[in-house]
Amino acid sequence: MSAARGEEERIPLARPVVGEREEQLLIETLRSGLLSLGPRVPEFEEALGRWLGAERVSAVSSGTAALHLAIRAAGIEAGDEVVTSPFSFVASANCLLYENARPVFCDIDPRTLNIDPDGAAAAVGDSTTGLLPVHIFGYPAAMPALERLAADRGLWIVEDACEALGAVHGDGKAVGARGNLATFGFYPNKQLATGEGGALVSPSGELKERIDSERNQGRAPDMGWLDHDRLGFNYRLSDLACALGLAQLERLDDMLAGRARVATQYTEALTGIEGLDLPCPDEGGDRRSWFVYVVQLPHGTDRDATIRALREREIDSKPYLPAIHLMSFYRRRFGHREGEFPVCEDVARRSLALPFHPEMTASQVQRTSAALAELLQ
Ligand SMILES: Cc1ncc(COP(=O)(O)O)c(C=O)c1O
Repeated sequence: MSAARGEEERIPLARPVVGEREEQLLIETLRSGLLSLGPRVPEFEEALGRWLGAERVSAVSSGTAALHLAIRAAGIEAGDEVVTSPFSFVASANCLLYENARPVFCDIDPRTLNIDPDGAAAAVGDSTTGLLPVHIFGYPAAMPALERLAADRGLWIVEDACEALGAVHGDGKAVGARGNLATFGFYPNKQLATGEGGALVSPSGELKERIDSERNQGRAPDMGWLDHDRLGFNYRLSDLACALGLAQLERLDDMLAGRARVATQYTEALTGIEGLDLPCPDEGGDRRSWFVYVVQLPHGTDRDATIRALREREIDSKPYLPAIHLMSFYRRRFGHREGEFPVCEDVARRSLALPFHPEMTASQVQRTSAALAELLQ
C-alpha cells in the first residue's frame, strides 16, 4: 500500500497557470529595457479596468499595499475604529494598524463566512469611521446591506476583494466595481497571478491621483525628478509584473472556468459525507469566483492528524483560515479572548483548504476526495 502511494504524484495546494504568452510578454518587456514606470503599467491597469467594468484602476505591489493606500484614500485617522471581519487573511486587519486605527471585529454569517451585516451594525460605535468587508474565498459580501449601513452612519467603505476577482453580486455588479474603494491581490495562488502584486479601484479621479502619487513616494505625475509633495511609499508594481498580468488577463475567463469545474467536481465527490460542510452554493444571484476549496471538517475531527494523513498520501492541505482576533499578536495588543465570535471560531477550528487550481485533473480531485472520505469514515 505505502509503496503504491509513494509512486503517486504529489498534489500541491495551489499552482499558477503560466505559459508561452506569459514568457513572450515577459521577454518583450525585458528587451524593451523599461522594467519599471514604463508602458506596461497603464496597459495592465486599463485592461484590468475593462475586464472588471471599473474606470480607475491603480496597479500596486501587493494586495496589502492596495489595502493600505485604500484606507488612506478613505481618510482614515489615528484612533479611528473600523468594523471588519475576523475571518480573513491577516492583511485586512493589519493595514488598519499601519495607520494607528483599530479593527473592531464582528462575527460572520455561517453560510457565506463574510461579515454579518447585523453584527456589523451592532459593532458600529462613536469612534467608527469605516467598514472594511472582505469577500472571503471569493464569495460576495452583503454589500447592499453594508452600503445602507454606511450611508445611515456616515461611514466610508473599503472592500477587500483580494480573493474575489471575477465574483458578481446579485444586483449584477462585479465585485470591486460598485463605486467603493476596492482592492485585489495577485499572489500566485490567486485567480490572476503576477508573482507579487495587487490593484486598487478608485471611485473618483481625485482619489486615483492621490493613490498613484502615494504608491510612488508622493510624487505627482507632473513633478520634476525627486520632487515630492506628500508622504508616499514605494508600492509600485514593475513592468515585468504588469506584463505577466496582461498575459494572465487574456486567459482569465478560462482560468475562472477551470476553477469552477474543479469546484463542481469536489462538491459532487464530497456531498453526503456526514458532518462535513462544503462551501456554500451561490444564492440570490450572488456568484462566487472560486479562489480556494475550503471544507469544514466534522466537529470533533482531529484536523492536524487529517492533514498528516493526507500528506502521507502525497496530498497537500492547510488550515485556512485562523481567526485573526485569536492570533497571539492581536490577543496581546487588544486583549481578545476565545468565545468572542463563536461562528468565526468554529469555522476557523474546522476549516481545511484542499488542493485547488484551474488545471487540477478530475483524477486528482477524485484522489483527494476519496482520501478525505476514507479518513473521515
Ligand atoms: C483577503 C485577503 N486580503 C489581503 C491579502 C493580501 O494580499 P498580498 O498577499 O498580495 O499582500 C490577501 C492575500 O493573500 C487576502 O487573501
